[in-house]
Amino acid sequence: MVKVNDNYLKLPGSYLFSTVGRKQREYQAAHPEKSVIRLSIGDVTQPLAPVIIDTLHKAVDEMGNAETFKGYAPDLGYEFLRKAISDNDFKARGCAIEADEIFVSDGAKCDCGNIQEIFSLDNRIAVCDPVYPVYVDSNVMAGRAGDYNTITETFSNVIYMPCTEANGFAPEIPSETPDMIYLCFPNNPTGATITKARLQEWVDYANKVGAVILYDAAYEAYISEDNIPHSIYECEGAKTCAIELRSFSKNAGFTGVRLGYTVIPKELKVGEVSLHSLWARRHGTKYNGAPYIIQKAGEAVYSEEGKKQLKAQVAYYMNNAHYIFDNLKAAGYQVSGGVNAPYIWLKTPGNMTSWEFFDYLLENANVVGTPGSGFGPSGEHYFRLTAFGSYENTVEAIRRIKAL
Ligand SMILES: Cc1ncc(COP(=O)(O)O)c(C=O)c1O
Repeated sequence: MVKVNDNYLKLPGSYLFSTVGRKQREYQAAHPEKSVIRLSIGDVTQPLAPVIIDTLHKAVDEMGNAETFKGYAPDLGYEFLRKAISDNDFKARGCAIEADEIFVSDGAKCDCGNIQEIFSLDNRIAVCDPVYPVYVDSNVMAGRAGDYNTITETFSNVIYMPCTEANGFAPEIPSETPDMIYLCFPNNPTGATITKARLQEWVDYANKVGAVILYDAAYEAYISEDNIPHSIYECEGAKTCAIELRSFSKNAGFTGVRLGYTVIPKELKVGEVSLHSLWARRHGTKYNGAPYIIQKAGEAVYSEEGKKQLKAQVAYYMNNAHYIFDNLKAAGYQVSGGVNAPYIWLKTPGNMTSWEFFDYLLENANVVGTPGSGFGPSGEHYFRLTAFGSYENTVEAIRRIKAL
């Protein structure tokens, strides 16, 4: 008789944002007269920039013409986009990443979840705690995480690296040696960043112990401070130990459009095996390429007009971030993040648990945020608010929170 993959049964509860969404819907159904403001899931709200829309229209027209029609895209991505990425995101920052080291995909979530497939199940993973839940969950599904302890809310085979107020929400090198190290900076959910010198320590460590760093830079566009690296390849030696994951969701508003990419340098080898070749093989077998229309829109992100328009969009969200940060701080909340990231990480008042504060805010301010504990045990007693709402909703949500 058929058996299921019972690793899935080890996953605790449903995906964090499904639970947040369900609670919001239940509250709204019970109180249809209330206007609930969502500052929970990190989803953008501003429309696509004009240059993106123009490019999409043109690409659609190309698909309606026999001479310019495109079928299957190359499974690793169109050359025009891979070159634009290589030139703008890497070479312009002094990182020697070539176009053929870039794998275009339909977003970073799939890549964050799938990348673990090219590694042995014997590997131990290390993750920041708290962090984007996909890294742990995808390793649970694969059978690499061990068993779940309902008391500590941790998996037995995962090395958790607490990111707390005491260490400025930046992880320390763990005492046990991991094989795969997930780092995410600017961090979701804390909004914390890491200096280039600190990231260099991670790169040196990974090269020393033979670990691979899986570096998620989905929020790179929000970095405003000078000493914060935009790419791990700004660090010396990163090409022999790091994979970088990027998204067009947050810098260009592509959450519904879907585009991302993964960088695997050709120098990155485990023994004699090239991880680039393994991922290329995996892509070739399981992925048929991001749509031409969307890749054209991705190319427009790097045009002069695109850069100008998207800078303004990022500034719009960061204005919200500063508004949330400054006002909650003035109201006596303990807040961090919001400087190089569109997330504000706040300590729950009165020692409420993260979910208690979630319910309290939903019921009394009709504002939805995300409980910090959903991102890992060290997120308990914290709460995440996003700056991705409209300015008007952000101002109204903060007014309601301050009035509590
Ligand atoms: C840290 C991090 N990585 C990846 C993603 C997923 O990005 P995408 O929309 O490209 O799938 C998110 C989305 O919220 C994220 O927070």
